[in-house]
Amino acid sequence: MKAAVIGRTGPADELTYADVELPQTGPHDIRVKTAFAAVNPVDIWTRRGIPGVDLTFPAVLGWDVAGTVDAVGSEVTRFRVGDRVMGMVKQMTRLQGTYAEFVSAPHQLFAPLPAGLSLETAAAAPLTVLTSAQLLSNLHLPDRAKVLVTGAAGAVGRVTVQRLIQAGHEVSGLARATDHDDLASLGVRTVYPSGADIPSQAFDAVIDTAGVPQTISNVRDGGEFLSITDNEQPEPERAITPRKNYVEEDGPQLAAIAEQLADGTLTVPVCRTYPLSDAAAAHAAFEQGGLRGKLLLAL
Ligand SMILES: NC(=O)c1ccc[n+]([C@@H]2O[C@H](COP(=O)([O-])OP(=O)(O)OC[C@H]3O[C@@H](n4cnc5c(N)ncnc54)[C@H](OP(=O)(O)O)[C@@H]3O)[C@@H](O)[C@H]2O)c1
Repeated sequence: MKAAVIGRTGPADELTYADVELPQTGPHDIRVKTAFAAVNPVDIWTRRGIPGVDLTFPAVLGWDVAGTVDAVGSEVTRFRVGDRVMGMVKQMTRLQGTYAEFVSAPHQLFAPLPAGLSLETAAAAPLTVLTSAQLLSNLHLPDRAKVLVTGAAGAVGRVTVQRLIQAGHEVSGLARATDHDDLASLGVRTVYPSGADIPSQAFDAVIDTAGVPQTISNVRDGGEFLSITDNEQPEPERAITPRKNYVEEDGPQLAAIAEQLADGTLTVPVCRTYPLSDAAAAHAAFEQGGLRGKLLLAL
């Protein structure tokens, strides 16, 4: 099958379009014929090389996928050939990625797509929305909490903002000035273009998706600081213990997310789609920064 692979870690042009072996489909697996994969920051870090993560080369990158079931393992009853599905495969531990014509993985990592949910949105959403859902379930917010989201217009930030507002919280964001109108339209109360403008000790919680550890100073005494980035964590202070959250595979949670995407409760915009054969260009564009919306790779 065709896949976008790296032969070693390095810059975007290490990504090439090559023939690799079709993955085996075990008794509890499904094999998905990929329609779209998404580009996520973790794919960029993995391509560049993450200390402690050993890849087997050539390595297929990618965590997010949407497509059509092409084969089912002998023990799988949840899916049939032809079903449309979305999934998140933790590439760095499974040593199998989604930038490929076919993806085989345990059926528990996938969710069926409701009618009305496009394969594009289904591919754009899994890692981003699972991250957001899981980090929020790790917070203990009071009713109508005041929450600051850094990187509020980014992929995870924007979904997190939507969920918090729907839950009745008062949300502010650290984001570029150009993101003000989009975030205001989602119901974000105040958009701060600079950390210096944010009132100190004013929030019950800060959710840091942009890697701005100094925003711990914006948390009230005893509040929460939760980061998802690999930037350095702030030191504990004023009864605030900084924590990190890492996304986990979860097909059942994805099924609930698929319903929210289908009924419009959550939106995950797509900004550009590249052919899988041009994954190197997609990575280069991602690294230039400033994109709003997910980048997809199409087969
Ligand atoms: N722990 C986990 O399981 C997990 C899961 C998903 C993502 N992550 C990590 O979380 C981070 C966010 O992921 P993502 O997919 O949401 O990335 P993203 O779409 O690139 O979003 C990051 C956002 O933060 C903004 N930003 C960065 N620095 C800023 C600053 N100083 N002030 C205002 N805005 C700033 C960026 O704006 P510009 O584009 O203008 O710079 C962008 O809008 C990444 O580091 C990613 O690796 C971790």
